[in-house]
Amino acid sequence: MITKVVVGGATGKLGRIVCDMIAESEDLRLTGATVSENGGNIGREIAGGVVASGPVTLKNLLKDADVYVDLTTPSAAGAAVASVPETGANIVLGTTSVDAAAMASMTAAVERYGTSAVVSSNFSVGINMFWSVCEMLARHLPDQDMEIIEAHHSSKKDSPSGTAKETLRRLQAITGAEHVSYGRECTTGSRKKEIGMHSIRAGNIVGDHTVLFGGDDEVLEITHRAISRNALASGCLRTIRWVAGRKDGRVHSMNEVLGL
Ligand SMILES: NC(=O)c1ccc[n+]([C@@H]2O[C@H](COP(=O)([O-])OP(=O)(O)OC[C@H]3O[C@@H](n4cnc5c(N)ncnc54)[C@H](OP(=O)(O)O)[C@@H]3O)[C@@H](O)[C@H]2O)c1
Repeated sequence: MITKVVVGGATGKLGRIVCDMIAESEDLRLTGATVSENGGNIGREIAGGVVASGPVTLKNLLKDADVYVDLTTPSAAGAAVASVPETGANIVLGTTSVDAAAMASMTAAVERYGTSAVVSSNFSVGINMFWSVCEMLARHLPDQDMEIIEAHHSSKKDSPSGTAKETLRRLQAITGAEHVSYGRECTTGSRKKEIGMHSIRAGNIVGDHTVLFGGDDEVLEITHRAISRNALASGCLRTIRWVAGRKDGRVHSMNEVLGL
């Protein structure tokens, strides 16, 4: 059976690769692609003969689609995703930093129309393993100082990355540390019970994430480094395949997709 997929953000750094991989696959078909209204890409051929259209065409494109993949911007995704379930399409939401109100509207619509969604701030199998290992270490080393350091390319719009925020959420859930220190200036005083968060923006870095566990006599660091966006794109295709046949009225996590 062929799964018909519409990709939002088809000209983006990740969207482009996802569209190409879909077009090259045997079981998925790209049936629509959206881009921003003013980016100059409407009408451009994307992959597999599909031509990019503006965000207003989304509902129409989804009438005959199985899955909508959103790889746009937080505001564009926030405006789009709540109206997807009524078309019957399932959602793969990869856009990060979508606000809580938009997420709640999407969840309510998924429940109401009995469709399914996966929300993932990082599609890479390696990052999801990284999270599992960090959680395990935080459970075993709850008294150590924990610092998150992330690095991305210079055109990344959000900071810290969605992956870093998700890392923070997981560490906080285990340690109960509520305070977060974003970067450090010399006036911040000595360290409290907190988690540090540091963002680097430089060049063409695809995405590096480190958690440093600092104790009195030793330091343990665990790092995930994305070498190419293909790791993200192939994880995205795996997610599309996983969610395609589901109609359970639920929003799922990447852990469920990967069986972690
Ligand atoms: N989950 C993951 O594994 C993962 C991995 C990497 C990135 N991300 C997230 O995915 C998102 C996209 O990342 P990126 O690096 O590919 O971004 P990007 O290169 O800036 O691309 C953004 C894309 O969104 C399009 N767009 C903007 N507004 C739109 C709208 N209203 N409707 C439809 N399309 C719209 C842009 O179209 P134009 O070209 O016409 O402007 C472009 O195609 C970000 O939120 C990023 O944090 C997630």
